[in-house]
Amino acid sequence: MCIIAVGNDHTAFPIRKEIIGFLENELSCQVIDMGTDSEDSTDYPIYARKVGLEVLKGKADMGVLICGTGVGVSMAANKIQGVRCAVCYSVEVARMARRHNNANILAFGARTQKVELIKQCLRAFLEETFEKGRHERRINLIRQIEQEQEESDGGY
Ligand code: RB5
Repeated sequence: MCIIAVGNDHTAFPIRKEIIGFLENELSCQVIDMGTDSEDSTDYPIYARKVGLEVLKGKADMGVLICGTGVGVSMAANKIQGVRCAVCYSVEVARMARRHNNANILAFGARTQKVELIKQCLRAFLEETFEKGRHERRINLIRQIEQEQEESDGGY
């Protein structure tokens, strides 16, 4: 069973329960709900960090992040080394994010996407598998960029 950490800011409050229910009931996933479960204004990096760390620690197989556009949460999550967060605005992008990029977090926009499209993207991503081969080499090159930065101590 796929374990998915879900995090969102206030913009996703109206759709979060539907997405979580879809993951659990339609895609047979186990969801770790990392909030927020409120419509009070909050800051998306908080949830990007929580979900990113949950994935990196191996407590979740993948993450789902939702903010207004998906951009903010993806920017924040991708600061965590080892996170590969893809903003998915189409089913094709979701498929390729798995097959070529082996994304471990998907980001969506609660204000810019219909909930049905988000569900279709989630289903498509989980149907696919990472193709490895040349794509693995490219992911290793991403990891190399992270390591270089760590070793350079910010001294580029
Ligand atoms: C919140 O108003 C909004 O800026 C946030 O959800 C997100 O869209 C940022 O990228």
